[in-house]
Amino acid sequence: MFGHGSHLLSSKDLTREDLERIFEEAEKMLPYARKEKFGDILAGKVLATLFYEPSTRTRFSFEAAMIRLGGQVISNPEMVITSSAAKGESLKDTGETVSRFADVIAMRHFEAGAVAELAKGSSVPVLNAGDGSADHPTQGLLDAFTIWREFGSLDGLTIGMMGDLKYGRVPHSQYEILSKFGVKFVFIAADGLEMPDKYEGERVKDVSEVISDLDVLAVTRVQKERFDGGEFDYRVDSELLKSAKEKMIVIHPLPRVGELAEEVDADSRAKYFDQITNGVAVRMALLRIVCGYGE
Ligand code: NCD
Repeated sequence: MFGHGSHLLSSKDLTREDLERIFEEAEKMLPYARKEKFGDILAGKVLATLFYEPSTRTRFSFEAAMIRLGGQVISNPEMVITSSAAKGESLKDTGETVSRFADVIAMRHFEAGAVAELAKGSSVPVLNAGDGSADHPTQGLLDAFTIWREFGSLDGLTIGMMGDLKYGRVPHSQYEILSKFGVKFVFIAADGLEMPDKYEGERVKDVSEVISDLDVLAVTRVQKERFDGGEFDYRVDSELLKSAKEKMIVIHPLPRVGELAEEVDADSRAKYFDQITNGVAVRMALLRIVCGYGE
């Protein structure tokens, strides 16, 4: 069971029970995610954020979550260049070292498995903030929390995933988390970006074939930093949403780079900016739980 002292390395490790508990905790944190402070329950605790890959939302989100719980943050967003990684230090040794400064670690890395490797050396909880194409559990959690809040439950929903389902870690995390509930998956991807075979769902190339069946359209950008080449042309716009259910929601982890038109922002079904606030609440819930203060 996910709890006091746990690492969060893989979305797969979370049970349905863990997920429901995290959603309920996050719901309690939500009023404090954007203003004021929940309190000082993590006063005296230190979060270290170690980022070996670019980030705007995830790192700030973890840091804001810690501060709103009364804790403090030490941060290196440029680990590749300015940490001892540049001198050849092993991830395990970095984990051992940082866990002597911090009570909890959030880490992003460009290689699958690197976060688990650092966790081997760490005596404090390590939270995976994205590792290569493999996993991004806190993003999957905040996506699922966003859907759970909109629909009141997850069971029975049809989830369309559209975009880079091959190299994107977010679709993989969404699958591992949402598959703990009774959802149906539709994978919408061009040739070369398909969801790996081990994931079970309906597979289509063109979103217009399925748009009217979906409760959730989960969009992602092409992860061009993870492979060579290929031009892909897919886009969610207001015209497409004319064929969607009135209650369908559009989610996106952001950043967007052309696959999601700005005109969609004005549509009440667009939830991607609300997801950012939901993400702070989810990370507050996780920090509370792993530090031993979750209910
Ligand atoms: C995602 C990531 O880093 O995997 N971004 C995020 O955390 N919000 C998605 C992406 O970069 O496309």
